[in-house]
Amino acid sequence: MPVDPGLIKDVMVKDFHCFNDRGFYCNEKHDPLSAHLLNLNGDKWKKMRSKLTSAFTPLKVKSMFDSVLACTTQLLTSLEEYASSKKVFDADEVMVRFTTDVISSCGFGFKSNCELKKYGDEIMRPPIIKIMLLVLAEMNQNLAKRLGITRTTSNARSFFLNVISRTIEHREKVGATRKDFLQILLDLKNEGQSLTTREITAQALLFFVAGFETSASTLTFCLYELAKHPAIQKRLREEIKNVLNTHSHVSYEAVAEMTYLNQVIEEALRKYPPAGVVARRCLDDYQVPESNLIIKRGTKTLLLPKKHIGVNSPIQILGPAPKGR
Ligand code: HEM
Repeated sequence: MPVDPGLIKDVMVKDFHCFNDRGFYCNEKHDPLSAHLLNLNGDKWKKMRSKLTSAFTPLKVKSMFDSVLACTTQLLTSLEEYASSKKVFDADEVMVRFTTDVISSCGFGFKSNCELKKYGDEIMRPPIIKIMLLVLAEMNQNLAKRLGITRTTSNARSFFLNVISRTIEHREKVGATRKDFLQILLDLKNEGQSLTTREITAQALLFFVAGFETSASTLTFCLYELAKHPAIQKRLREEIKNVLNTHSHVSYEAVAEMTYLNQVIEEALRKYPPAGVVARRCLDDYQVPESNLIIKRGTKTLLLPKKHIGVNSPIQILGPAPKGR
């Protein structure tokens, strides 16, 4: 487990060609929705990644800002109600509702609903039996594929496949377009990129599951730290007021000027990283620079920045290659 920032940089950048797999279990046959960017490996990941890179340009993200803003109305109403009732409330639950709204709107162009949250939760918090099967699947991926072990439940799969294919059909039928992630994928398909409805649904699903919980936990921890540090809260409020005084309304540009806000969010991410480790699988025997250590081909490697755990040991390498790879 490399924890040294220099070595992490080597693995992620300079020597990326030796580590461009995460090595996660993916079962395209029984679970086509597991074949998204996070789980795809090797050439399949590279091809999908290069197709999707254009989906994340700052301009495209900016074009979704109004949709994000629209979701804050409901959030503000809820927060005002909680503030006036002075009752304790579950901030994480409120933030999850907000980020689910944002991702459903920016991702698929529809309002979030109970079913979306239900199946999102089902994927993010699977029952214990599913977790055990998935641990097994990570340990012996070939056997898991033969047994047909899936990451998503059949209900969640049919729900997402149905909802996305109906939305695609509707847009194609009436010629409607929207400024959302699904539209970016449809445009890529219409421009001649080979993307099936299943592939589109898998990437859209990743966008949803990768986005709502990570962002909600970041916001929740920001609120927690701000509640504990009133002086920081006061300084942040002043910055927001000052910036908004020079803009007619809350806009992408105005938020980009809020440097202290950015620092507050980055500090929350540092203290409470929603994804504390980054996984890589070594594709070739790798000589760790300036040491006699070799990371063997096939070894699953977890990258963990030292600052997150305060570990001083330079490098520890855990675990042999998983069976069946
Ligand atoms: C605080 C919020 C977030 C955190 C901490 C976070 C963290 C991460 C991490 C650690 C990875 C793996 C990186 C790697 O292996 O190199 C990742 C991948 C990914 N995340 Fe996020 N994420 C966040 C929000 C989002 C949002 C909002 C979206 C989309 C709406 C998103 C979409 C993705 C995608 C598509 C990938 C796969 C990228 C690839 O394979 O090239 N994430 N994220």
